Amino acid sequence: ELSFIHRYEPATDPTRPPLLLLHGTGGDESDLLGLGRTISPGSALLSPRGKILENGMPRFFRRLAEGVFDEEDVRLRANELADFVAEARRAYGLEAPVAVGFSNGANIAAAMLMLRPEALSGAALLRAMVPLSDAPKADLAGKRVLITSGAMDPIVPAENAKRLAASLSESGAEVQHEILPTGHNLSQTDLQLMVRWFSR
Ligand code: MLT
Repeated sequence: ELSFIHRYEPATDPTRPPLLLLHGTGGDESDLLGLGRTISPGSALLSPRGKILENGMPRFFRRLAEGVFDEEDVRLRANELADFVAEARRAYGLEAPVAVGFSNGANIAAAMLMLRPEALSGAALLRAMVPLSDAPKADLAGKRVLITSGAMDPIVPAENAKRLAASLSESGAEVQHEILPTGHNLSQTDLQLMVRWFSR
């Protein structure tokens, strides 16, 4: 028994990296499977369900208000999720996955990069923001990170997403940050950018 409710699809193309799919608030372990198959066909898909419930909606960590995080819980949950990734890698025989996270899922993936960089080989962070005000300096050399933000996102201020991009690249990650003319929801352009990013 692994420590998170999850879905797993084995790889059909062994040259593709495994994906760790992390849903947004109110999503679940099935939400991003279709997205994963589209952006990296043939990748193994590992998709856990967040353990926090906010009015019945699954999430990956607690928040005090929209955009205001319980940072102690962010740390605890990022470590717990990194432990799950290690368990799942042993159980399924996987390399370190690339995280693909949307919104709350992108935020926990960003926290994992900062706290447990060994857990991920890279990350696509869709509508992410800075998850921790005083993150430890991680060594992200060799890790690729794609961040896609919405210029009109009411939840993630553009300045905040830029700070996240700057902090990850200062830690050595190879960051591509795209600001799209859209809001918090994903657009066709997000998909195209991810397909291109994964094919490199
Ligand atoms: C969060 O709580 O992680 C952010 O506010 C994004 C969201 O899930 O709405």
